[in-house]
Amino acid sequence: MKKKLLSAILAASMTLGLLAGCGGAAAPASSGNAGGSAGGKIGVAMPTKDLQRWNQDGDNMKKQLEAAGFEVDLQYANNDVATQVSQIENMVSSGDKVLVIASIDGSSLGTALAAAKEKGIPVIAYDRLLMQTDAVSYYATFDNYMVGTKQGEYIRDTLDLDNAAGPFNLEVFTGDPGDNNAQFFYNGAMDILNPYIDAGKLVIQSGQKDFATVATANWSTEEAQKRMENIISSFYADGTPIDVVLCSNDSTAMGVENALDSAYSGAWPIITGQDCDIANVKNMIAGKQSMSIFKDTRSLAKQVVEMVTDIMNGKEPVVNDTSTYNNGVKTVPSFLCEPVFADINNYKELLIDSGYYTEDQLK
Ligand code: BGC
Repeated sequence: MKKKLLSAILAASMTLGLLAGCGGAAAPASSGNAGGSAGGKIGVAMPTKDLQRWNQDGDNMKKQLEAAGFEVDLQYANNDVATQVSQIENMVSSGDKVLVIASIDGSSLGTALAAAKEKGIPVIAYDRLLMQTDAVSYYATFDNYMVGTKQGEYIRDTLDLDNAAGPFNLEVFTGDPGDNNAQFFYNGAMDILNPYIDAGKLVIQSGQKDFATVATANWSTEEAQKRMENIISSFYADGTPIDVVLCSNDSTAMGVENALDSAYSGAWPIITGQDCDIANVKNMIAGKQSMSIFKDTRSLAKQVVEMVTDIMNGKEPVVNDTSTYNNGVKTVPSFLCEPVFADINNYKELLIDSGYYTEDQLK
């Protein structure tokens, strides 16, 4: 009886993908589709070529969709919302069968998405949730709250906040307010750090703490650099040490590192990041960035290609979260991949041994 119950639970959790890592154990559920028997053209809309990760995401999606037998319509929008809207409108009118969209601003694609829905074209939100629309069918991403949690835990553990006397000076940088992920990263990290801020063990000398104040338009390195330079000159010019900077991702971390390089002469602070961009991994090796979050874009692409293939074959795609991501109109069935923590001690194994980068790329 007990055994029966266990196997029923096991079967149910496999259907929901609960036991599956990203692109991992979920594969068998879709493997009957290998070869993309359905064929057809798939639209892939990416935000920008400016950040390394989206180039990798786009390349991986194209390669894997083509290997599965699909034609691929891959577009980059130069971080310009109007461009992305017209790219999606073209995808709809030119007969793309499924749309995979990594939005610039999750709330700004309403009309283009409505056109897709009218034509019965399924839409998958890629990495960033599409907000305020019922036209999105599925969402595939990394667990964004967990990204923030891991960054917060890294700071807590590295400074030994439960035992050390402190206080330590902290500054905070997060991402674009139009990107739903930014709020998740911020909340995940701040839920870990807030008790220490409340207890006075972490002190934000600038007082800049709430999400809107620490957000960085377009995740821009230059904007983060400017804000950090202002913070240094206003609050740390007298030699007050900066102990730690929480940065939600690598592009903002790079801005902070550039500002420290040009305007700060104290001991180098702990700095967090996300994406394991090549330039940031180089900084990690050089001791200028403490950690990054590794999100293997190959496995996210694999998961999305499986979703596309299932949809094209009239099957229900595998998801593993049906409660977290409400977009204001509906709760979107999601597949969350697990992010991994990377630092100087494990980057070789994670990034080089796995074939993500070559050793030469990191020199
Ligand atoms: C992604 C991050 C990325 C950021 C800036 C977020 O939506 O999840 O991986 O660093 O956008 O491109």
